[in-house]
Amino acid sequence: MTTQLTTSNLSSTGNVHGSPTGSEAVGVSPPPNFPDEATLSRLASEFFAALPLPSSGSHHPSGLNLDLPNVGTPPHQPQPAEPLSALSGRVPNIAYEKSLNPEYPEHIPNYPDYPERRAIASAPVIGGANLPRPPFEPHFPQAIHSAPNVPLAESARPLSSDTSPFYFLNDFAAPQTSSSEFEATSFATAQSFQLPQGDALTHLLRDESKPVPPQNHASSGFYFLDLPQNNPNYSNYQASQPQFVTNASQPLDVHSIRRDFPILQERVNGRPLIWFDNAATTQKPQSVIDRIAYFYQHENSNIHRAAHELAARATDAYEHARNVVARFIGASSSKEIVFVRGTTEGINLIAKTWGEQNIGEGDEVIVSHLEHHANIVPWFQLTKKVGAKLRVIPVDDTGQIILSELPKLINDRTKLISITQVSNALGTVTPIPEVIKIAHAKGVRVLVDGAQSVSHMPTDVQAIDADFFVFSGHKVFGPTGIGAVYAKPEILETMPVWEGGGNMIQDVTFEQIIYQPAPNKFEAGTGNIADAVGLGAALEYVERLGIHNIARYEHDLLEYGQHALSSVKGLRAIGTAKNKASVMSFVLEGYSTEQVGKALNQHGIAVRSGHHCAQPILRRFGVEQTVRPSLAFYNTTEEIDLLVSVLHQLSREKHRH
Ligand code: ALA
Repeated sequence: MTTQLTTSNLSSTGNVHGSPTGSEAVGVSPPPNFPDEATLSRLASEFFAALPLPSSGSHHPSGLNLDLPNVGTPPHQPQPAEPLSALSGRVPNIAYEKSLNPEYPEHIPNYPDYPERRAIASAPVIGGANLPRPPFEPHFPQAIHSAPNVPLAESARPLSSDTSPFYFLNDFAAPQTSSSEFEATSFATAQSFQLPQGDALTHLLRDESKPVPPQNHASSGFYFLDLPQNNPNYSNYQASQPQFVTNASQPLDVHSIRRDFPILQERVNGRPLIWFDNAATTQKPQSVIDRIAYFYQHENSNIHRAAHELAARATDAYEHARNVVARFIGASSSKEIVFVRGTTEGINLIAKTWGEQNIGEGDEVIVSHLEHHANIVPWFQLTKKVGAKLRVIPVDDTGQIILSELPKLINDRTKLISITQVSNALGTVTPIPEVIKIAHAKGVRVLVDGAQSVSHMPTDVQAIDADFFVFSGHKVFGPTGIGAVYAKPEILETMPVWEGGGNMIQDVTFEQIIYQPAPNKFEAGTGNIADAVGLGAALEYVERLGIHNIARYEHDLLEYGQHALSSVKGLRAIGTAKNKASVMSFVLEGYSTEQVGKALNQHGIAVRSGHHCAQPILRRFGVEQTVRPSLAFYNTTEEIDLLVSVLHQLSREKHRH
């Protein structure tokens, strides 16, 4: 949807024509043959549409054909709103507020950190039409109209002299690179305010339709790219790839999905952000951002249930999120879900409660060689403390666990197998159903670390018969600081409490304390209520896309990425298991992982480089660190091409000398 720029709504803001009192106040008469108002209106629309801002269905200024909404470029720093008179050059950006989320096309994000945007959004139409519409049923419909927009006069500020008042201008500065190969077809023109001028302006005013430059991805889809077209490995590889992304039968429309994630419009070092650090954390859809804002605007309270209206709203919202978590992972009841800060806290909770209750001197705990430190340290600490033993399932040279070794590790002292479903460092998908079958046949409990799996594949804790399952909200498009522990109800019932305090008790005297039943007995104190609610919204978002669709799309994307990376000379993939998700760890000959990470960052590409909190498995492969691009469903083959092309450049540099 696009907001049409008309002379009438421009006039109503009182700034384009200089005065709300009428054209005579402008003081400049139009030339005799000046077009009529309708023509002017149309020309104005086209004029602004020609601004070098991304617009829906158009080519991104970078050359990436991302089909981006008309979002403009958000300021990197929150800025207070500006006077209306400063806004005229940015009027086309109104479309941003109206088109970002296809599910709620009328919704205007009420960015608390970007009051400027609210001001822009509300400027042309004062009144109800632009008021935020919540992405869910409010408790009281009238409440949604009470969210105040920032009054322009209050939030106005003088314009800083050293930065442009036009926030898009700074972002379209020349790319910060000295390398001439990146400058040739820069998207930026040097003219003020990026407005069309000269021939382009004449062309526009001649009222001819603007030709759309053809997208020739095969020859160079990117403005600064030295794509490895001359590399026969890469060309052969590209030719052999199925065109899955353009296949109309694909159930995921990635370009449309990208519009749900405002941060994907961010620019880094003058380039469009490419987020390949999804194993560290995922980005958040607008519906999650809105849900959290709505909570604080309309529901915020502690969850003392019936104490007052907002307490009831907050409690409902929190418990709704618990229901969503239960449904998402296939638990039989929300009573089996304990909210925690994340996977790390979840595993610590289990180690310090069930673990201390059930694991004693001479007992054994099994983990795999793949584990994240969060699934090693708590078991190391517990086994040291009680005199138990920690044993490790080995992995083969591809990075998969050697399943046949597992029965040999289990004996009558084995109490628990705690294992990841997807390795954060290598991406290996472990055979969890088989592990659980082997364990249960010997009466051993299994904890599944789902931190890296929940966002990539379906989870069904009952189908796999997991005893415990833990995950983090921020890895599945939800907020940080919230996650969940699932445990079978019979386990939760007898598990001792860990932290003590309010909220988890039924009755307290100095002689005796009666605890709440699970899950509340594990949630002492005021929890992270708003972010639990945000997590619920994130899981609902994933449900709408369909986790099976996501898994299929990402599988193809990962295959594409791994093949593309294999064309880079001197690149060694770390973790080549047949069954993998998301992660493409590697080292590049002649470069430290930090150097590669920094070079990629220069091109706006975010990857993690380091030990990924999984030192044992990296050392198993003879390295201390890797570069780790990791994928999510909003990533594209075009982004992978860009990553690989930068790596080709680095590789060529090294092999030239
Ligand atoms: N566990 C997160 C990672 O793997 C932080 O990067």
